Amino acid sequence: MSKKQFYITTPIYYVNDKPHIGHAYTTITADVFARFWRLKLGKENVFFLTGTDEHGSKVQKAAETAGLSPKEFTDKVVNEYLDVWKLLNISNDEFIRTTDPRHEKIVSDFLVKLFDRGYIYKGVYKGLYCVGCERFYAPEETKNEFCIYHPDIKLTEQKEENYFFKLKEFSSKVLSALEKDEYKVLPSQRKNEIVGKIKQGINDISISRAGVSWGIPLTWDKSQTIYVWIDALLNYYSATKIFDGKEKFWPAQLHLMAKDILWFHALIWEAILIANEVSLPEVVYAHGFFTIDGQKMSKSIGNVIDPKDLVNEYGVDGTRYLLLTAFSFGYDGDISLSKFKEKYNADLANGLGNLVSRIAKLSEGVELGHSMSKWTSNVQISAEIGEYIEQYKPDEALKFIWSNIKKLDHSIAKDEPWKLTEEEKLKLVPEYLKKIVDIALDLRVFLPDTAEKILNIFTSGEVKKPEPLFMRKPQ
Ligand code: MSP
Repeated sequence: MSKKQFYITTPIYYVNDKPHIGHAYTTITADVFARFWRLKLGKENVFFLTGTDEHGSKVQKAAETAGLSPKEFTDKVVNEYLDVWKLLNISNDEFIRTTDPRHEKIVSDFLVKLFDRGYIYKGVYKGLYCVGCERFYAPEETKNEFCIYHPDIKLTEQKEENYFFKLKEFSSKVLSALEKDEYKVLPSQRKNEIVGKIKQGINDISISRAGVSWGIPLTWDKSQTIYVWIDALLNYYSATKIFDGKEKFWPAQLHLMAKDILWFHALIWEAILIANEVSLPEVVYAHGFFTIDGQKMSKSIGNVIDPKDLVNEYGVDGTRYLLLTAFSFGYDGDISLSKFKEKYNADLANGLGNLVSRIAKLSEGVELGHSMSKWTSNVQISAEIGEYIEQYKPDEALKFIWSNIKKLDHSIAKDEPWKLTEEEKLKLVPEYLKKIVDIALDLRVFLPDTAEKILNIFTSGEVKKPEPLFMRKPQ
C-alpha cells in the first residue's frame, strides 16, 4: 500500500456535554495513526482533523437546561474539548466547529446542489426519534421503545413535514461501490453488516427539521433547518476547503469512529457524495464500543469518566497507554477501572519505568566509547509496528513493544551485569542501550512524551540516573 498523503478524521463530538473517555479513546487512537503517518510521509502530507458537532436539538436542549443561548453554550463547551485534547497531547492539525460560518455556507451550497439535481423532495415523516442519537428508529430497532444506545431515553413519536433525500435510489450505487472496494468499511465483519442491511432495503431519509431552530436553515425553505447529521458529515469535506492548504487532502484516507455511528458513515455519507459527484473516502473504520465495569457509560448511572481524572491519576502517557490497551481494537470491550492501577504498576512503573532506570544505572559512569546520538527525529519506526498500524491494530503494536521490554528485562536479569567487571560490562551495556533506544523509537507514536524522555536519557551524551518515568501507585 503506497500512500502519498494521509487525511484522518475522528467523529466530531456533540457539545451537549464535556468529553468523556469514549471520545478520548477514538481521538487518542486517531492521534496514534496520524503520528505514524507523519513519520512515514512527512508532516506536510498528513492532515488530522477533529472537531465538534454543535447544532441540533440535543445541543439546543442542553443549552436551555444550562440557561444559555445555544451559541453561548457551544462556545463554552467547545473549550472543554480543546483543553482535553491539548492535555492528552493530541496532534490534530485543525479543529472544526459546525457553527463556523464557512462550514455552514459549504453545507448550504452542497444541499442546494442536491436539490437542483432533483435528489431532494418534500414529504411527511413519522417515526420514533431519539434525541440522544439525533435520529429516527424503526420500532424493531428499539428496546420496548427505548433507545439501545441511550437506555434512559424513551423514544417519542414525531411526525412532521420535511425534505427527503433519495437515499433509496443511491443505495444501490453505494452498495456497488462497497462491493467493488471503491471505499472500504472495516473491520470486514462490519462491511458484511452494512451490505446485509442495504440489501434488506433502504428508505429515503429526511434531511431537514421543521421543529429544530438551532441549525443551518435550508436555502430554499428557511422554515426548516438542515438535519444535524447531514450538517455534521459534511465537516470532513468542508474542512478541506476552509483550512489553508488542505484542499489537496480530499478525499480522506480514514474516517475513524465507533460502531454506533457507522451507518451514517458507511451509507448515508457515501450516498450524498455520489449524488453530488464528489469522490469517496478510502476507509471507514468502526472500532468497538466499550462499557465500564459491564455497564454503559451514562450520566444517570453516574459512571461517566472524565479523561482529566485519569490524567490526574496516571499522567498523560499513562492514560494514553491504559486506554489504548484496554481492549482489542475493532471489537467491543469492557473497561475495568480497578484493573487500570494494576496494569499501570505492572506495565509502566515496573515494566518500562524500571527497565529504563536499570539500564541508566548500568550505563552511569561507563565509558561508552561510541555515541548513541545518531538518533534523529525522522528515524523510521520498526517494520513490525508499521505493519500493525497499517492493519489497524494499535493495541497489538503495543503488545509487541511490551514483549520487547520483557525480553530485554529478562536478558539483563540473565546476564547479571552487576556481577561483571567493568570491562565485561562495557561489552553488554551498548547492546542494552541500542535495544532501549529502539523501544523508545517505537513508542513515539503511542506515548510521545515518554519516548522523548527515554531518547533524551540515552542519546544526549552522558547517561545519568533519571527521575522515575512512572511513579508506582500504592495498591
Ligand atoms: N456528533 C456525532 C458524530 C458526527 S461525525 C460526522 C456523535 N457524537 S458523539 O459525541 O456521540 O460521539 C460518538 C463517538 O464517540 C463514537 O463513535 C466513538 O468514536 C466515541 N465513543 C463514545 N462512547 C464510546 C464508547 N463507550 N466506546 C467507544 N467509543 C466511544 O455521534
